[in-house]
Amino acid sequence: MKKIAVLSSGGDAPGMNAGIRATVRASLSRGLSAYGVHRGYEGLIDNNMRLLDSRDVSNILQHGGTILHSARSDRFLVPEGRAAAAASLAKRGIDGLVVFGGDGSFRGAHDLSLEHGVQVVGVPATIDNDIWGSDFTIGYDTAVNTALSALDKVRDTAAAHDRLFIVEVMGRHAGFIALEVAIGGGAEAVFIPETPSDIAGVCDKVRERIARGRTSNILVVAEGDEEGNAYTIAKKIEESSGLKSRVTVLGHVQRGGSPTTSDRVLATKLGWAAVDALIEGCAPCMVGVENGIISHHPFPDTWLNRKQLDPLLLEIIQEM
Ligand code: F6P
Repeated sequence: MKKIAVLSSGGDAPGMNAGIRATVRASLSRGLSAYGVHRGYEGLIDNNMRLLDSRDVSNILQHGGTILHSARSDRFLVPEGRAAAAASLAKRGIDGLVVFGGDGSFRGAHDLSLEHGVQVVGVPATIDNDIWGSDFTIGYDTAVNTALSALDKVRDTAAAHDRLFIVEVMGRHAGFIALEVAIGGGAEAVFIPETPSDIAGVCDKVRERIARGRTSNILVVAEGDEEGNAYTIAKKIEESSGLKSRVTVLGHVQRGGSPTTSDRVLATKLGWAAVDALIEGCAPCMVGVENGIISHHPFPDTWLNRKQLDPLLLEIIQEM
């Protein structure tokens, strides 16, 4: 292995920069050259990449976003796009590829390696934390803390006005952010895609609390809950119980900001481990951290298995 390329793909996640820095520095320290690909698989298809040196990745690990930029690439979903991407790598004699991203990015990486034999290592980077094979994904800790700090502020105004608030966090298919934010922020209930939501039961709980003098109430909704988004749930709550609420959608603010220490350290470990995995011939695979130890899993395992929410947290939010 002489040359590698690195890219970030899909929704950006705070910590991607720290991971890119680690991948580039690990490559250089092992005598490999590292290319940075602009805009994920889109850039790979267009052969849009440049050689990076150590100073190109200086002073970036504390910043959110990704210096390489990211994209959701429709062109990479078809075989022609992947063939063009493989040709870009071959033209420059690049032997290995490191992909920072989530589930969709790993499916693309898997196809690229199956069809063209490209050695790809995936690094789990998504605020959703919904990747099996790594206890945490890069960006999740920062996103949860950003959302929690917003929820604390909502709590102040909810208390001042004796109001019911419904706070929507990201998570199209997963409730990791919602559940941790609900627990960390003392929310009265959480709506997540993994468990059936009980609107009538939540209304009863809020009514009981109001009767006991607890006049401010917060419900956390994952955007992908089966009952709908926060606005839909607010409407259903009002229709079924007459309870009026205010809705706050946190949205993309959760994807930005300076990564927490945990995310910087996780990204540095995984970005470094990805280069080792390429050198040691573990590719194609995803590198993860499980119980503090670096692990390697074939790509399909990361989407065929479903990462479970903490059952104790689920029980606590139900009963507390
Ligand atoms: O990256 C994951 C994520 O932030 C999800 O939580 C969210 O549903 C989605 O991306 C939003 O994607 P986009 O920025 O493309 O609208």
